[in-house]
Amino acid sequence: MASALGRSASAASQVKKFMVYRWNPEKPDVKPYMQTYDVDLNSCGPMVLDALIKIKNEIDPTLTFRRSCREGICGSCAMNIGGSNTLACLKKIDDNVEKPMKIYPLPHMYVVKDLVPDMNHFYEQYRSIQPWLQKKDESEMGKKQNLQSVEDRQKLDGLYECILCACCSTSCPSYWWNSDRYLGPAVLMQAYRWVIDSRDEATSKRLDQLKDPFSLYRCHTIMNCSRTCPKHLNPGRAIGELKKLLAGWGKKPQPQIQGQA
Ligand code: SF4
Ligand code: SF4
Ligand code: FES
Repeated sequence: MASALGRSASAASQVKKFMVYRWNPEKPDVKPYMQTYDVDLNSCGPMVLDALIKIKNEIDPTLTFRRSCREGICGSCAMNIGGSNTLACLKKIDDNVEKPMKIYPLPHMYVVKDLVPDMNHFYEQYRSIQPWLQKKDESEMGKKQNLQSVEDRQKLDGLYECILCACCSTSCPSYWWNSDRYLGPAVLMQAYRWVIDSRDEATSKRLDQLKDPFSLYRCHTIMNCSRTCPKHLNPGRAIGELKKLLAGWGKKPQPQIQGQA
């Protein structure tokens, strides 16, 4: 395709091609296709999201994608770049201009438009694990501080940092084929985050909820999830810990300190 910047690749050695998945629900007769854009890397920021924003601002305002923070915190720019699920704002542009960069939406998700996946089912699954602190006596909530020792707090490290971008779940073959019933690595890691929290008292209820053959046990330890996480978290390990607790090979430790009035 002719460059919308009006340059040819030979005239400017820093012009790189970006091949981007396009689909518009308002044009149901047009099948999904890849559209190629030429971007001059000399006038573009270093990340893939910079290139997408440049394309949208300067070449094609119809290109649709999600983004917000531009610093790996909101999780909204998750997409498949060069074959891997990652965050466009954290992914550096490969400056080899001979090699086009291919960008697709997160795999095996319904597409709302172009690079925007439908996250509703993923968020429903997150809601299903009740991701909030629970006490046996809810009437006591808010009356006492929920104290936690430094060691108990450290058990949440590597769990609470998850930004729910869904890169892991949508890289998991088990989730591709069973996402109607399998919760997937992102949601299961959050289930574990609440199970292991020393202040939470709904542990048995949370574990019981995972006992059926699909919610947890569709994980076959393929570990694509942990390999792809752009925040370098390890949902595969969290799933392993849940399996140990359910099998009775491990037990949630008693809290080191209790809440005080
Ligand atoms: S370990 Fe494998 S099967 Fe289990 S959630 Fe991760 S990618 Fe999926
Ligand atoms: S574990 Fe990593 S890849 Fe998965 S949702 Fe959280 S931040 Fe994203
Ligand atoms: S824009 Fe927020 S994580 Fe990329």
